[in-house]
Amino acid sequence: STEDKRKLLHNKWFKDVKLANGLTQEHLEGFETFAVRDDDVFVASYPKTGSTWVRQIVSLLYCDADPEKDISTYKRFPFFERYDLRTQAPVYKTIEAAPSPRLIKTHLPYDLLPRDVRDGKGKVVYVTRNPHDTAVSFFHFSQGNTALLTWDTFDEFLNNFLGGKVSYGDFYRNVLGFWKHKDDANILFLKYEDMQKDLYKVVVSVADFLGKKFPEESLQRVLDHCRFSVMKNNPRVNYEPLARKGILDFSKSKFMRKGIVGDWKNYFSAQQRETADRLYRQRTLGTGLHFDFEP
Ligand code: A3P
Repeated sequence: STEDKRKLLHNKWFKDVKLANGLTQEHLEGFETFAVRDDDVFVASYPKTGSTWVRQIVSLLYCDADPEKDISTYKRFPFFERYDLRTQAPVYKTIEAAPSPRLIKTHLPYDLLPRDVRDGKGKVVYVTRNPHDTAVSFFHFSQGNTALLTWDTFDEFLNNFLGGKVSYGDFYRNVLGFWKHKDDANILFLKYEDMQKDLYKVVVSVADFLGKKFPEESLQRVLDHCRFSVMKNNPRVNYEPLARKGILDFSKSKFMRKGIVGDWKNYFSAQQRETADRLYRQRTLGTGLHFDFEP
């Protein structure tokens, strides 16, 4: 039955994520029945695909494109499926009581989003990135990260990434779940590589999608504050606070690491490339999904 299928999905995601958090089956039910409002905005993604970048764009659009009014991305975007060990409560319960408009970060796969979202309520900005660069970024992010599974070598990480056995599970499952719904009215599907190519165009498309109208100079301001060099030095988005708390180890890798397309070439051996390319072709075959692997 549909109910059994959903339970299986829950269990699979649970196993995949392997986060040392306090989520239970009851909380997963809570995701499903979470009451979505029309003006909710979810920024959804697989990890390391450009979520922080997109959240910064949305954040600026929600503070009148005025960087002075911007607040930390962690505060503005509570992480939906996280369990807050400090308050011993799942974050979504806190979001339930938050005033509108609610901006929400999630790494949940499409099928595990609240039922209301799947029924067309609220808005979802989804971002993805070519799997090779995602893998390299994820490997670095895992280094010294106390919240995730960690790996000694890139080869070990990549094998597990391609097998869908890293924290947050299978990349392709995540992206294809949203790709199927890319034309839904409440979903905007973005790619990291397109943001690199023409950030202005992406900012305009996000603003339009969210129904935000701004004069040209405000949009330019948003653009200026979303540049890699600016975000790298902005503690509201560069995760410095998490490094100070010892959750991330910036001596191993900064959150704002390189911010480019094609860094995978500096890490993949010929053999790894062949294996990863083959999987890419298999998994995207007949789906129409395509990625740029070069700048
Ligand atoms: P790299 O590790 O390849 O540098 P997420 O926010 O989903 O965790 O993704 C993090 C990746 O996005 C990192 O990639 C980070 O450097 C990159 N990134 C963040 N802000 C960016 C920006 N303004 N321009 C380009 N890349 C950015």
